[in-house]
Amino acid sequence: MPKITLTNVTKQWGKFIGVNDLNLEIEDGAFVTLLGSSGCGKTTTLRMIAGLETPTKGEIRFDDRIMFSSEKNINIPPAKREVGFLFQNYALWPHMTVTQNIAFGLETLKWKKADISARVAEMLKTMRIEQFAERYPAELSGGQQQRVAIARTLAPKPRVLFMDEPLSNLDAKLRGEMRTELKRLHKDTGSTFVYVTHDQLEAMTLSSRICMMNEGVLQQYAPPLEVYNRPANLFVADFVGNPSMNIVDARAVKTGPRTAEIEFLGRRAAFQANEDFELPSDKVSLGIRPEFLPISQDGDMEGMAYSTLPAGMETTVKIKVGDTILSSVVFGAIDYETDAKIRFGISGSGILIFDQETGGRLASGRVVFQ
Ligand SMILES: Nc1ncnc2c1ncn2[C@@H]1O[C@H](COP(=O)(O)OP(=O)(O)OP(=O)(O)O)[C@@H](O)[C@H]1O
Ligand SMILES: [Mg+2]
Repeated sequence: MPKITLTNVTKQWGKFIGVNDLNLEIEDGAFVTLLGSSGCGKTTTLRMIAGLETPTKGEIRFDDRIMFSSEKNINIPPAKREVGFLFQNYALWPHMTVTQNIAFGLETLKWKKADISARVAEMLKTMRIEQFAERYPAELSGGQQQRVAIARTLAPKPRVLFMDEPLSNLDAKLRGEMRTELKRLHKDTGSTFVYVTHDQLEAMTLSSRICMMNEGVLQQYAPPLEVYNRPANLFVADFVGNPSMNIVDARAVKTGPRTAEIEFLGRRAAFQANEDFELPSDKVSLGIRPEFLPISQDGDMEGMAYSTLPAGMETTVKIKVGDTILSSVVFGAIDYETDAKIRFGISGSGILIFDQETGGRLASGRVVFQ
């Protein structure tokens, strides 16, 4: 499997820039997701790597082999890049059985008959669809069809597998199941997966690295938990996590290399950072994940229960403090009466400070009430 390297890749249509100066290194065997909202350039990026879209500028390499270079005038066609695709609409051939669907691509590639049968059998087994081998697509459920489509795509042993929102037309339960299958499949095949989604949960649970994009610009490229715990900026912080991170306006004044006095929601507290940091201005945003607002009698903060959303295993409590509504997530099912007084705290060392002007993360640390 190759390492994929994008250097200063840009895609422009007229004045509109779809992907802006993207630098990305996709490690051999990685499961990378391109994450971002509609129109941010995910599909365009995927298509450029696959060779289906020609970049305006930049270079794309698979290991040391140049696949595209605007400077050197190189553009290797998609068929020669040895990659597989799985798109949202994974049309199977309706007049072919499952076996024929999987074998078709191998026949086109002129594989030997015996090799084709062996490979089809192997794929049927991996995707656990052996019992459907002789059925036609119309005789399968959506999830089973999806598995056939994946088997068909993987059969020719693509070095890299590109998937563009392949689960988006499945129901929630099936999506969950297919996520599990995909993660297993990644491990079993050892292929490099490049996966497009706008679903942050999918990106969090599946990938070895998330490439978070906004309006054609890379925001952060890091493993999921780093994106979650140390988002590069307010955009990433807000996009990843459900319920979203609480973002609260605050004033901050440095009191030491790692400390500041902060004022927010009508309260004063000390901020103790995990590392040395600078404050470009006193206007900051405090970023607090919902799980860092534990509800307890001896909490330092007070608010009103705005609404309570018990989901069984956990409960989201919306707490109103002044004009601000905060989300707290607590384990178990509880139901607070609307407008009841609630005391809560700010826990842990994962509280973030962002620069309000640039949105960049300045520090992480803990909030201490004196
Ligand atoms: N052929 C084209 N000509 C002009 N603009 C285009 C063309 N193809 C895509 N774009 C624009 O480039 C931007 C990125 O498109 P892209 O399809 O990569 O988005 P995406 O992140 O995949 O979005 P979605 O989640 O909706 O699929 C969009 O604003 C789109 O309108
Ligand atoms: Mg797309």
